[in-house]
Amino acid sequence: MYESVIAPSILSADFSRLADEVATVDGHVDMLHVDVMDGHYVPNITIGPPVVRSLRAATTQPLDCHLMITDPRTYAPQFIELGAESVTFHPEVDDDPASLIEELHERGGLVGVAIKPAHPVHDVLELLPLVDLLLVMTVEPGFGGQAFMDSCVTKVAEADQLRRDHGWKFRLQVDGGIDPLTIGSAVAAGADTFVAGSSVFARPDRPAAVAALRDAVGAASRRGRPGAASKAGGAS
Ligand code: DX5
Ligand code: ZN
Repeated sequence: MYESVIAPSILSADFSRLADEVATVDGHVDMLHVDVMDGHYVPNITIGPPVVRSLRAATTQPLDCHLMITDPRTYAPQFIELGAESVTFHPEVDDDPASLIEELHERGGLVGVAIKPAHPVHDVLELLPLVDLLLVMTVEPGFGGQAFMDSCVTKVAEADQLRRDHGWKFRLQVDGGIDPLTIGSAVAAGADTFVAGSSVFARPDRPAAVAALRDAVGAASRRGRPGAASKAGGAS
């Protein structure tokens, strides 16, 4: 449905020299994923608008801000004003997420909603026609470097089926524990946008790390989906 997008998460970069760190992936990646945590929605605090302002001046890469915060209504517009291309929030923290999505669109941003491992796709069903992206978390939000949760992959397949059935246009992003070994199952389930923190920024050769992810996406795409492959075989 979409070309695949690799979005390294700067959470695993060295924050003391962020501009140099993001420069190491310039020309190799499609966007940068920025994990914003407030110490309330998740038990960790990372970065906020001032850092995004500096980052915006330091790179031409699109910035994809993932807000793991309890007050996206106050802060999400700020990230768009500062030049983030897309902003994703966890909708259960807001009373009227549809109106927030509309407001963020009016400000010119792409908008995503995210679901944690315990949340079914059904929780965001009515938002899916409205958003540009659905983020299916494949770890508990809060920290980089955690193990990929295979149990979340069925939700990716379910969301992909829904967008095909209804003609919805959202991109399908996976985030957490993505590396060259785990990315294949997400590809097979229909994901097209891949966040990778430690498997890129915790490695010494970032271009090689990104290339390994792209190779794994390519290999998984060629293998195709289990269901789709047998259908095609039956039709020929
Ligand atoms: C987790 C964040 C992820 C994280 C991914 O709360 O949303 O974006 O940085 O890091 P890895 O790829 O190391 O799991
Ligand atoms: Zn994230």
